Amino acid sequence: MSTREEKNHKQHQAQPEIDEVTNDQILEGHEFDGIRELDNQLPPWLKYLFYASIVFAASYLTLVFVFEDARVIQAKEYQKEMAAYLQEEEIAEEEEKAAPVARTQEEIMASGEATFSKICSVCHGKFGEGLVGPNFTDKYWIHGGSREDMHQTIVTGVIEKGMISYKNLLSERQIQDVITYIKSLQGTNPPNQKAPEGELYDPEPEAGTQS
Ligand code: HEC
Repeated sequence: MSTREEKNHKQHQAQPEIDEVTNDQILEGHEFDGIRELDNQLPPWLKYLFYASIVFAASYLTLVFVFEDARVIQAKEYQKEMAAYLQEEEIAEEEEKAAPVARTQEEIMASGEATFSKICSVCHGKFGEGLVGPNFTDKYWIHGGSREDMHQTIVTGVIEKGMISYKNLLSERQIQDVITYIKSLQGTNPPNQKAPEGELYDPEPEAGTQS
């Protein structure tokens, strides 16, 4: 650059160059391959939106980190909803205790029979006489013939023999009902019975127990 050109350049810097087409000021020092940058003003709406977002961010962060407000913290929101739900359940349980919905023996048996014929009879026989699975009408049990033993078998299944766990497929009430139904098959002596398997289970009938 000659000294004259240099002088010219300095003058330019003092008086900002204006773009002929847009009349906008050209920013100095931003030039690349002859492309230069104009000093455009942002439209007011965009500027205010920007300021508003700063204000929003500041207040949001204050809510989250300073006041830990339940409206913006998901974990708290979740806890609040869970507490409400559990309370609702507790109330329902208490109501049930106060005035239990009495189920008749027929209802329990009907529910147990429905589960049995839908799911269990495939392997244990239409009348519980035994098929792939053992006979339910005799007094012999491989895994124990008490309600607790049967419950255990139904909940864990006997995977190696092909009976799956019904833990997630049946509700606790359905399991209890189907046990009641199986117990009722005792001694019904249906045709085509499978030979007894396992140990003899012949408890003294206790007064007042469901059998
Ligand atoms: C896919 C076939 C299959 C289905 C379906 C099945 N079971 Fe079984 N179950 C078996 C087999 C096989 C055994 C015998 C396991 C053994 O030999 O140890 C068994 C054993 C049992 C026993 C223990 C019997 C004993 O002698 O101790 C009970 C109780 C029982 N099942 C209940 C049920 C109930 C209730 C259902 C329906 C919800 C059901 N099973 C569905 C195959 C099945």
